[in-house]
Amino acid sequence: MEFELLKTDEHTKARAGKITTSHGVIETPIFMPVGTVGSVKGVHQRELKDDINADIILGNTYHLYLRPQTPILEKAGGLHKFINWDRNILTDSGGYQVYSLAANRKIKEEGVKFKSHIDGSFHFFSPENVMEIERSIGADIMMAFDECTPYPCEYGYAKRSMHLTHRWLDRCIAHLEKVPPKYGYHQSLFPIVQGSVYKDLRTQSAEYIASKNADGNAIGGLSVGEPVEQMYEMTELVCDILPKDKPRYLMGVGTPINILENIALGVDMMDCVMPTRNARNGMLFTAKGIINIKNKKWEDDFSPIDPDGHTYVDTYYTKAYLRHLFAANEFLGKQIASIHNLGFYLWLVREARRQIIAGTFLQWKTKMVANMSNRL
Ligand code: GUN
Repeated sequence: MEFELLKTDEHTKARAGKITTSHGVIETPIFMPVGTVGSVKGVHQRELKDDINADIILGNTYHLYLRPQTPILEKAGGLHKFINWDRNILTDSGGYQVYSLAANRKIKEEGVKFKSHIDGSFHFFSPENVMEIERSIGADIMMAFDECTPYPCEYGYAKRSMHLTHRWLDRCIAHLEKVPPKYGYHQSLFPIVQGSVYKDLRTQSAEYIASKNADGNAIGGLSVGEPVEQMYEMTELVCDILPKDKPRYLMGVGTPINILENIALGVDMMDCVMPTRNARNGMLFTAKGIINIKNKKWEDDFSPIDPDGHTYVDTYYTKAYLRHLFAANEFLGKQIASIHNLGFYLWLVREARRQIIAGTFLQWKTKMVANMSNRL
């Protein structure tokens, strides 16, 4: 993987760059739609490409390992072929899913024993077998196996967990050398900074991660319930330590406002279920604010869903029609809303990039942040 830093903003820490992998170019800053089980919920691969223009999507090791399971993915020739997606894929390692399982997992030095949410069967993840699974999936970017600490998290636990994540990272790196790629192209390993909301731990973790000289670096353990100010403080501190010439990925963030604020702090890549999950509940993000399409006020509003929107659904359908689809609980409503929201998120990061390059990012961001918190 190559990363070219094209511009650093003079008024903020925002960056515009370009990642090149064997599955194409990713212009940064980028938002990555989440396709947990090999499907961005409700959205066709064709729509992701032609309408939303996503350069990269996410898959999840935990979910894909449980279903369809690695032998099927290998038989298919990897996840790209299985789902017919020839652009980039990043796989999360399972570190976050395992954290979400709470009562149904046990963390030890060796790895994590967990109970499947599908059939209750027991499984074990270690840095070694997660690397093998990520090889079988064939993602362009593989995340290291880590522990995502909850919030709040007591200092002693955060410290022990951070050191465990670091030891697991070393095991990931050592094991990858023994397992070559299965499909003939390079796969990058991104290590993950942890350390909860503690500045000394975040500093130590960022320095440790930076010393590994990976193709790119990630920030984990944020957006888990901490106040946003604390998230921004941690992001900024970590970005200031991570190498400038490598992409920085903030995991699991966030709202459109969080996206712009974190870009301003030096983040290049983000992902979140929010645009698709909230779409399925009738929440639409726009440049002018948030629309709850289930609201009665849209019942007879025959204006386009979003006259300034960037996907065909925005002007093809009306608000009244979309509201009706939600009222009738039709699949199509959730699909339209998902395309709209992803189209908006991808437009937002592309526009951010354009503004960074033009030198007008800060003014633009200030205006966007004010507008996007409106309730329409
Ligand atoms: N997704 C959101 N946060 C995290 C994290 O801390 N670790 C991993 N592996 N995935 C995440």
